[in-house]
Amino acid sequence: MTKQRAFSGIQPSGVIHLGNYLGAILPWVRIQNKYESIFCVVDLHAITIPQDPKELTESTYLTTAIYLASGIDPKKSIIFVQSQVPAHAELAWLLNTIAHMGELSRMTQFKDKSQKGNAENTSVGLFDYPVLMASDILLYQAGIVPVGEDQKQHVELARNLAERFNNRFGKTFIIPNPVIGKTGARIMSLDNPSRKMSKSDSAGSYIALTDSPEIIRKKIMRAVTDSGSTIKFDPKREGLFNLLTIYQMLSGKTESQIEKHFAGKGYGDFKKELAELVVTSLAPIQKKIDYYMKNRRLLDRILKTGATKASRIANSTLTEAKKKIGFVS
Ligand code: TYM
Repeated sequence: MTKQRAFSGIQPSGVIHLGNYLGAILPWVRIQNKYESIFCVVDLHAITIPQDPKELTESTYLTTAIYLASGIDPKKSIIFVQSQVPAHAELAWLLNTIAHMGELSRMTQFKDKSQKGNAENTSVGLFDYPVLMASDILLYQAGIVPVGEDQKQHVELARNLAERFNNRFGKTFIIPNPVIGKTGARIMSLDNPSRKMSKSDSAGSYIALTDSPEIIRKKIMRAVTDSGSTIKFDPKREGLFNLLTIYQMLSGKTESQIEKHFAGKGYGDFKKELAELVVTSLAPIQKKIDYYMKNRRLLDRILKTGATKASRIANSTLTEAKKKIGFVS
């Protein structure tokens, strides 16, 4: 039997932070052998918010370099850039005709993002963003979609659109399932632990994968905790719980091992150890990011091969969907 397919992606806009790494990239690296995996740099999604063209190009290369440096292996998985496979935009149009205004209006990410700007001037692309995401997933007949908690609602929309299309035109798409890790799927902001870590917040709220050791130490030492003193996994102590989750994911230790290790120690000691763990975990990745960023030709080659492989799968699904709708071929 052929392996089930996994599909996921990250937007090349601004920084890639520890939340993206722990909630998405690390789980991707771990599933590569089990699933036929496809990882996309979703630049069509990035432009739903205005992007500087030069920065978008840089960010697209950087995101690709981060995938590779983190351990996504192009021999096992397909890595490609969304805009290099035109089928994404084309299937998104077809799905637009069956998606409802009401269901898109209820997407929490759209509500958040459009309220930050002026709703009246929000792009149609931002509103339509989840339909493009459904197109990404359905084109590859992906059975699983490994994402952080914040993308769950979007994957559910993809499921609904797949079911609606199949009911109307006959079975065409596999119904995808979101896969969300038990730990790390919602890493919180360092300076406001009641909000998720997000690139659109201030720099003190996140650790970028490219932050220097000094910056990482500073950000962790300044991270908001509470007035308690014991190092315990207690979800009610949001700030500490978040830092402990980061520690747990990077160290691979259990909760009780970690609590035992820090018994009798205070927040200062814990934060120092956490900072060193983050610094040493990111150091080898950062070295590889530098290597890839200095080898753009290699990145171009990997992306070209990825786009060719991705197109083959995507075009076959798109052809099938168009036939089902009744388009003349
Ligand atoms: P994006 O670029 O916002 O985030 C990329 C991935 O990182 C996860 N993530 C987090 N995980 C844990 N804690 C956090 N604080 C945190 N912040 C972000 C996200 O859940 C995501 O998995 N729409 C998507 C990109 C996309 C996509 C797709 C994903 C486009 N097409 C198809 C899956 C399948 C997005 O904007 O992710």
